Amino acid sequence: MAKAVTSTVEPDVPARASGDAVICVEEVHKYYELGSNRVHALRGATLEIFRGEFVAVMGASGSGKSTFMNILGCLDQPSSGRYLLEGIDVSTLNKKQLAAIRNQKIGFVFQGFNLLARTTALENTELPAFYARVSQQERLRRAKASLEMVGLGDRMDHFPSQLSGGQQQRVAIARALVNQPAILLADEPTGNLDSRTSVEVMEIFQRLNEERGLTIVLVTHEPDIAQFAKRAIVFRDGKIKKDDTIANRSIAENVLKTLPAVED
Ligand SMILES: Nc1ncnc2c1ncn2[C@@H]1O[C@H](COP(=O)(O)OP(=O)(O)O)[C@@H](O)[C@H]1O
Ligand SMILES: [Mg+2]
Repeated sequence: MAKAVTSTVEPDVPARASGDAVICVEEVHKYYELGSNRVHALRGATLEIFRGEFVAVMGASGSGKSTFMNILGCLDQPSSGRYLLEGIDVSTLNKKQLAAIRNQKIGFVFQGFNLLARTTALENTELPAFYARVSQQERLRRAKASLEMVGLGDRMDHFPSQLSGGQQQRVAIARALVNQPAILLADEPTGNLDSRTSVEVMEIFQRLNEERGLTIVLVTHEPDIAQFAKRAIVFRDGKIKKDDTIANRSIAENVLKTLPAVED
């Protein structure tokens, strides 16, 4: 006999559509209104990204990369078209729901690290878990584990000014991981780092992608950095012009062995 199906009601989360894509972007356009000027920053972007992918987003300055990332990260909404994040149509969400989804499903890493200056590495890392109302004990446990994962177990009590650029970016990565997000979005994360430190960041990304199956979308204008991803998308004038699997992928762990060590 068939059992009655009871539906669970989750008031803050809309019903999921079908499909396994973590990210599903359909014909997305974005306009910015600047006084009487209208900038058409995205012109019909369509794309799916599946769990465990590692995608590099490339393209000239002004081609729409950051606009696209802001939409993926629910920091901004498309002017038209649809964006589904894990099957959830983001355009149907209100501000509070968007903030919740950002906090729970998305880890952000930026070029400028964006750490709080008067706050230790540990407290910076804990912050998203604090906003997610995770208990103090659990927050501490997760933040420590995240910092250890990026190799900063011995720097937890340091302030950003007491850390190198590469270490600060690793704190930012630990912070991005603390709520166990579905995707990691990184906009030019190596833009302020020297080449060895950049490869160290890529080593962490590759490890997270391989060992945890974390889905990563990384904006970079450096072909050497894109070479660490599995797939490259190229934007031109607000459109996706290319979408290819990366051939001869670089493995950061191996590249690091060929680079001279630097002192932290
Ligand atoms: N907040 C904004 N207001 C107005 N125009 C913007 C804004 N953000 C970006 N743009 C414009 O949209 C286009 C795409 O910008 P952006 O997404 O930042 O490109 P990229 O990250 O590839 O350099 C550019 O022409 C840029 O000047
Ligand atoms: Mg940009």
